[in-house]
Amino acid sequence: MVITTTNTNAPIGIFDSGVGGLSVLRHVQAQLPHEHLLYFADSGFAPYGDKPEPVVIERVLGVARFLETQGVKAFVVACNTATVAAVRILRERHPAMPIVGVEPGLKPGAAATRNGVVGVLATERTLRGEKFQLLRDQIIAATGARFLLQPCVGLADQIEFGKLDSEELDAMLDRYIAPLLLDGADTLVLGCTHYPLVQASIERVVRRHTDQQVALIDTGDAVARQLARLLEASSLLRIPDGQPSSLTGFTSASGEALRAAFTTLLGQDPPVQEVEIGSPLPNSTATHI
Ligand code: DGL
Repeated sequence: MVITTTNTNAPIGIFDSGVGGLSVLRHVQAQLPHEHLLYFADSGFAPYGDKPEPVVIERVLGVARFLETQGVKAFVVACNTATVAAVRILRERHPAMPIVGVEPGLKPGAAATRNGVVGVLATERTLRGEKFQLLRDQIIAATGARFLLQPCVGLADQIEFGKLDSEELDAMLDRYIAPLLLDGADTLVLGCTHYPLVQASIERVVRRHTDQQVALIDTGDAVARQLARLLEASSLLRIPDGQPSSLTGFTSASGEALRAAFTTLLGQDPPVQEVEIGSPLPNSTATHI
């Protein structure tokens, strides 16, 4: 039986295939500073982007079930790949729970472009997803924008492994971004929550190829605003009571790696627990930051 809490003091559960969702969590902390947060990194199963859809759905439902046992009052699916594959079924299973997903920012991308050409950087799984393709077709019909889709195989892994400022990362970004700029993209959608974590490197690579201004679209801020709206509509916003808000991390891989990610990426040092959910896939990779 699905139990939905009405306790305003309950935490919000935020999750991703790994550390990428921290790019969303930082916006949630900025906009909802009084909320208690639980962050789940499913790093033992990262990346989701090259897994079959049923596997991603199973992981999402498993992680959500775990967070539910921790008494969360809302979910943030801080992963484009997981949202495209599984948010519909997650909503079916938890009809009363506020759930916010993350989808590549095609609409803000179409609004930002000056020449109508928008590059979309995302995982292969996201770009192949039916939900993504429907969204793309709707935005094309409404705006006439041209989307250049770039699956970034291996990029989330580089970030997951903590190679944030490495030559390999730069070379990979160059390989994925240069053709989009050559084809005229003046806007790049960061369609995976891992990518805003290397925004500075993306900007550096873009500047190497063009003097023109290129807009980068990250939807983390919009996701946090949507979460605030849903909590308010359900009367679930935490009422400040003088007690500080808390953050706790959970991971299906190494706790040390998630701790390092919190420190490096957010400058924070929350408690972290290792949790096992289901059995690892034979070829899954652990996080090493
Ligand atoms: N952070 C995930 C997303 O937003 C993708 C990383 C992965 O492939 O697991 O799509």
